[in-house]
Amino acid sequence: MAGPLPEGLMPSADGRLPEGIVPNSQTPFSAYVHVPYCRVRCGYCDFNTYTSDELRGSRRETYGETVGREISLARKSLTRVGDNRAVSTVFFGGGTPTLLPAESLVAMLDELSATFECEADVEVTTEANPDTVDSAYFDTLVAGGFTRVSLGVQSVVPHVLATLDRTHDAERISGVVAAAKASGLAVSVDVIFGTPGETLDDWRRTLDAVVGFQLDHVSAYALIVEAGTALERRIRRGDVAPVDDDLHADMYELADEVLGGGGLAWYEISNWARTPETRSKHNLAYWRNHDWWGFGPGAHSHIAGARWWNVKHPAEYQQRLEAEKTPAVGYEIPDAPARELERLMLGLRLSDGLERAQTNQAEVLALVRDGLLIDEAAQGGQLVLTLAGRLRADEVVRRLVETDD
Ligand SMILES: C[S@@+](CC[C@H](N)C(=O)[O-])C[C@H]1O[C@@H](n2cnc3c(N)ncnc32)[C@H](O)[C@@H]1O
Ligand code: SF4
Repeated sequence: MAGPLPEGLMPSADGRLPEGIVPNSQTPFSAYVHVPYCRVRCGYCDFNTYTSDELRGSRRETYGETVGREISLARKSLTRVGDNRAVSTVFFGGGTPTLLPAESLVAMLDELSATFECEADVEVTTEANPDTVDSAYFDTLVAGGFTRVSLGVQSVVPHVLATLDRTHDAERISGVVAAAKASGLAVSVDVIFGTPGETLDDWRRTLDAVVGFQLDHVSAYALIVEAGTALERRIRRGDVAPVDDDLHADMYELADEVLGGGGLAWYEISNWARTPETRSKHNLAYWRNHDWWGFGPGAHSHIAGARWWNVKHPAEYQQRLEAEKTPAVGYEIPDAPARELERLMLGLRLSDGLERAQTNQAEVLALVRDGLLIDEAAQGGQLVLTLAGRLRADEVVRRLVETDD
């Protein structure tokens, strides 16, 4: 069942949720806060984010207040269905949350923790663009309860940063990483591989630099050429050439080798951590299909099998909440086969793998024979991807689904 949320189904006045939601008090609960602002839009990015001339009258200065209204609505809605779970992780993502003053992020966190109980060891992360942060910024975050930062480094190679339209230079990155570490935050960096013009040696330089930072967590993403982006137009015009699949695969294998050599082990297709304790608890909550409320324009929520999503533009988001209307504009309650497919797609991404009750044993054996699933794990009833399997995860999911018993 999917469609526009009927007006009045989730009014702020009484906070009703879509029919049939029965939260399970044992499922961990997370909060995501979307901050939809960027100084400039990188040519490859299609996230829900706005530069200052795209804001149509909505104001960054009052953003925290508007999110505060949705926090009250969420409290009311969850209390109505008897849900009093504590928050186990909080993640500020974007956009660029750190375009707001650190005090504004702390104020939103304060509002959240005044309204929801938080677990004693709550993980609180913000994404950050290296251009927007310094020691004082990090110190304010730490004093305000943040525990972790995820820095958008992308590359340390100047021509790659230029193709990606990044505004920071390579020299700035190591200083920002050092400042973040000195503040006491757990530090993760995001890097991207497969940028047009990037060679295997360029990518090795970035990986070596990242290993040199001696961090406990790294996310390495294959660049996706998103439809409708400036990068896609440049490729279509022939200004830059996309990286081919073979080089992408070589780059992924190099990432696993270099990060592994630096003491970081993969635990999700695009994520490496020093120990199980330094994995991103928030992202694990998504991959394990836990529950979360997504605050902010365009944010998605997932509670007890139901999903809904907010209006995308910050101006409309603000208007709706100020008029005491729900910001949600669509919802979906996936049926059992759709939920099982999702569990398979998400669970297979993890090094922990997943158990699968109705798996066709012959196909599992075929996938082991093809070198895509780990034999030992499969014999114990767990589906875990090999390195080759990680590169062909979509194919593994398709083969398992098509041959379901
Ligand atoms: C919201 S951004 C992180 C914070 C900040 N906006 C920044 O870019 O520094 C999230 C991450 O998504 C990744 N990303 C965005 N667009 C991507 C694309 N088209 N392909 C692969 N990764 C992408 C980047 O690595 C980026 O760091
Ligand atoms: S990658 Fe980050 S900084 Fe660049 S446009 Fe996307 S959200 Fe903004």
